[in-house]
Formats: sequence, structure tokens, C-alpha cells
Amino acid sequence: MDYTVMMPAAGSGTRMGAGHNKLFLELEGKSILAHTLAVFQQDPWCTGIILAVKETERATIETIIQQEQITKISALPEGGTERQHSVKACLKSHQSDGIVLVHDAARPFIKQDVIHELVISASRHGGAVAGVKAKDTMKYVNNGIIEETADRERLWVIQTPQAFRYEVLKDASQKAEQESFLGTDEAMLAEHAGYEVRIVESTYDNIKMTTPEDLAYGGYLLKKRLEETV
Ligand code: C5P
Repeated sequence: MDYTVMMPAAGSGTRMGAGHNKLFLELEGKSILAHTLAVFQQDPWCTGIILAVKETERATIETIIQQEQITKISALPEGGTERQHSVKACLKSHQSDGIVLVHDAARPFIKQDVIHELVISASRHGGAVAGVKAKDTMKYVNNGIIEETADRERLWVIQTPQAFRYEVLKDASQKAEQESFLGTDEAMLAEHAGYEVRIVESTYDNIKMTTPEDLAYGGYLLKKRLEETV
């Protein structure tokens, strides 16, 4: 079952404190971006990759694409100030009636079986996102005082990929723009537009490389995976 993946890669990654785009940091000799691109290059269901980039980083990213022999890139639109704007730029450069995935370029550890479950679920139901059950107790806190303990049984930690029928994501994105609604993920836009979005259980190691500790853990995960495939 075919899909196109839209990958926002135009962030600044200030929480990583690298002084440049965190996607260029290396794990086992390759950039985080190269690792994430390789997952989709190798997935036979993936027919196109659209990458939202910063204009100032376009040349560096084109070099990575060439070096890693990523042949599925179909567009490299310019990203925006917020992640949502970068995804919108990807949507503008793609017309389709198929399934589209949005995946953070900073999540190189996504597994192919989870991607495929998401594609199947989105094609059946309209939208599906990867997530894992919350492990910790979660509380709403205001000014340092606990207001309420959330019901953990119903709490999920949401990741990417987030998969949609193209027309669902396009409509959700257009409605968000018309109403100046800013969401932290695409599911939020789809929920806001009244669509039902399903959860597909993912794995706890599908981490987003965000802070320096993630780099050390990411290095460990990658070594473990390479050992498993030997
Ligand atoms: O900053 P954060 O880790 O939440 O970003 C998630 C993904 O969205 C990263 O791959 C980042 O490059 C991308 N992003 C983007 N445009 C922005 C902000 C983030 O493409 N304005």
C-alpha cells in the first residue's frame, strides 16, 4: 500500500544546544537526518519523500541526500517558522488522493511494521497516529500546585508518523489556517476539524532527538539495532 511521507526538517533545535540544526548531528558516523531518510528509502511502500528545509540549509541537505543515495525525494519546499507551517509547505507541493504521512526528521528509530499499520489504519479510518501508553503518573499543575491527577489508563504519549488520507490532512490544515489555530501535531488539527483519529501502538524507542541525553541513548539504540541485523 503506497504512501508519501512529508518530513519537516526546518527546525532550529535550540533544546539540543548544538548551535546548528540538530538533524546534522551524527550517530555512528551518519547524520540523524540521513538515518531517518534511510528508513523511508528502504520501505517499499514509500513512493515519495517531501522534505521541508530552511533555505540556508538547502545545500547541506542536498549533499546528504546525494551521499546517502536517497532517490525518493519528490520536493524540497522551504519550511516555516512553526512546524505546522513547514508541514503546510509540504502539503502545498503535493497533490494526491492517497495516504500521506507526516514524520519528524528527528525520529530515526521508527519501525517499518508500525509505519505499515499506520498506513492501513489511515486508509480505513481517515487518520491514525503512532503513540505509546503513558508509563508515569501525570498531573495538571498550576503555579507549582497540583490541580488534578489525569487518568493514566486513557493517557497516550503521541509520536510521529501521523498518517492521513490526503484530503483529511489538507482540509484540517486549511481549517487551521482560516481559524489561526496552531496545533502541536497534525492529529490536533484533524481533531479540531472534527475528524476521528486512531492510535497505532508504537515503541518506546521511537524517540525524538531533542536534548543532548537523547544523543547518548540514540547511539545505544543504533548499536543495538546494528547488532540485531548482523
Ligand atoms: O523542535 P522539534 O523537535 O519539536 O521539531 C520536530 C521536527 O519538526 C524536527 O524534525 C524539526 O526539524 C521540524 N521543524 C520544522 N519547522 C519548524 C520547527 C520544527 O520543520 N519551524
